[in-house]
This record gives sequence, C-alpha cells and structure tokens, in this order.
Amino acid sequence: MSFIAEQLSYTYPGTTKPVLDAVSLTVHVGDTLGIVGESGSGKSTLARCLCGLLQPDAGRISLHGAPLSLRTAADRKAYYRAVQMVFQDPDLSLPRHLAIGIPLLDAARLRWTAADERRRQVDALLKELALPADVLKRRPRELSGGQRQRVAVARALLVSPAVLILDEPTSALDMVLRQDLLALLRSVRRSRGMAQIYISHDLDLIAQVADAVCVLHEGRIIEAGSKDAVLNHPKHDYTKRLLATVPTHDPAKPKILAHRNLR
Ligand SMILES: Nc1ncnc2c1ncn2[C@@H]1O[C@H](COP(=O)(O)OP(=O)(O)OP(=O)(O)O)[C@@H](O)[C@H]1O
Ligand SMILES: [Mg+2]
Repeated sequence: MSFIAEQLSYTYPGTTKPVLDAVSLTVHVGDTLGIVGESGSGKSTLARCLCGLLQPDAGRISLHGAPLSLRTAADRKAYYRAVQMVFQDPDLSLPRHLAIGIPLLDAARLRWTAADERRRQVDALLKELALPADVLKRRPRELSGGQRQRVAVARALLVSPAVLILDEPTSALDMVLRQDLLALLRSVRRSRGMAQIYISHDLDLIAQVADAVCVLHEGRIIEAGSKDAVLNHPKHDYTKRLLATVPTHDPAKPKILAHRNLR
C-alpha cells in the first residue's frame, strides 16, 4: 500500500522554465520519505502538487493503486481527506481572519459527529502539542510562530490523512518542542499507518526522521534511496556537496546511526 507520484511536471503560469521535471516518488504506508534540496529546487512546488493544491501539467498521483484526481468536487474532497499538508509558511495553513478553533473543529468534523467528542479530541491534541486551550479563541497572528506551526500540524492531523506532507515543519521550533513534535508525528505514523513526507533543507532533521530520501535539484530527482545510502554513501556530486554544507555531518561517523534508536 503506497502513495505514488509518477513523472510530475509543473511550470508556473506566465513562466517558461519547468519548476518540476518528471518527478517520481513512492512512500509506503507507515514510512517516512525525506525530500531535500537547496532553496529554489522546487520542494514546496512539489509538495503543492502532491497535496492537490496545484494541478501538475503532466504525471499521475495515486494512493493504494487508485488515482487521485481533482476533477469533481467529490474527487477533491476525497483528495483532501487522503492527503494533508502543513505549509512552510504556517499562515497559509490557517485562515487569517478566523479564530483558530474554527478550522480545527471543522477538520475534526470529518471524523467525529458529536460536538462534545470533537471538542474533547481537539483539546487532547492541543495538550499533546503543548498548546494552551485558549489558542482556540485566538487568531493566527495572536500566536507565536512556533505555536502557529503546531496549530497547523494539529489541523492536518485531525483529518487523519493517509499521507501527511510537512514542509519545513520544525523551522520555528526550539529543540525541545521540535523533539516533542517529531515524537508525536512518529507515534501517529505508527498507530494510524500514515505515510509521511518531510521536506526540509535541514539534513539533520531528515537524518532523524526519514526511512528513504530523495534529492531534488533544479526540479529533478537526481538521487533517491534509503536514508543510509543517500546520506552516508551519496553517489551524486550534488548530494555530496549538499552534505558537505552541514557542519555537523561527518560521513566517517554517520549521525544517522546515533538517531536510529529514536525510531
Ligand atoms: N507562484 C509562483 N510563481 C512563479 N514562480 C514561482 C512561484 N512559486 C515558486 N516559484 C519559483 O519556483 C522555483 C521553486 O520554488 P519552490 O518554492 O518550490 O522552492 P523550494 O525548494 O521550496 O525553496 P525553499 O527551500 O526556499 O523553500 C523557484 O525558482 C521559485 O522562484
Ligand atoms: Mg519551500
């Protein structure tokens, strides 16, 4: 059972250079795929195509063998329930003018019909994410960046998607909150059999969470494989250069071995 993208291409309207060029990837249920690449390589564009926010110019996306389509309203609803995304800019995940409780309880409505049960589930998740219950009454701008990031994760998790895409999910978090968030994401991945895609230029984060890694460069996947193969035995010069920019990454003493017991 897996989430598969085949030969995705995308060019932004009004431009000529493709931002994605025949990108293919597979994530199995319960696994984590890390997508790395320098700024501007197309990571967020790929994420937007994978979650159905952008319609690729070419290519196919399927879940458990069935194509995901954006053609009808019913298709789009099914897509939304199957694939959720936490945006790099948390402002994009949450409507600016609404109190946070509204999108959160709306997301919970997809799974729980009784209002008191919805409220209980939302409160429990906020607690797990170390967010005060009164955030529900506040608007996004009345939260810190780190709180907004966790609220965006909460909203996506309430839908309980089969695939969760996280674009730089820990960039606004301190070390403790980051570890807590990663632990929560790991636990839902296991308990709900979710596939997760982490997009980041933080290779330490990818080393910690990913089973497999894809390297995106100028809109193409130039290297893909297990985390160990890509991060410890990279074949492509570009991947080697990318790894060389990480001060803490010492290929002789792979950091990922130290992280293995965390999974
Ligand atoms: N809405 C848009 N219209 C036109 N071009 C865009 C648009 N969004 C992104 N681009 C261009 O597409 C390319 C890829 O951008 P993208 O945001 O996917 O990169 P990224 O890998 O996520 O970068 P970063 O690590 O900085 O977040 C860049 O050249 C960018 O300028
Ligand atoms: Mg980006």
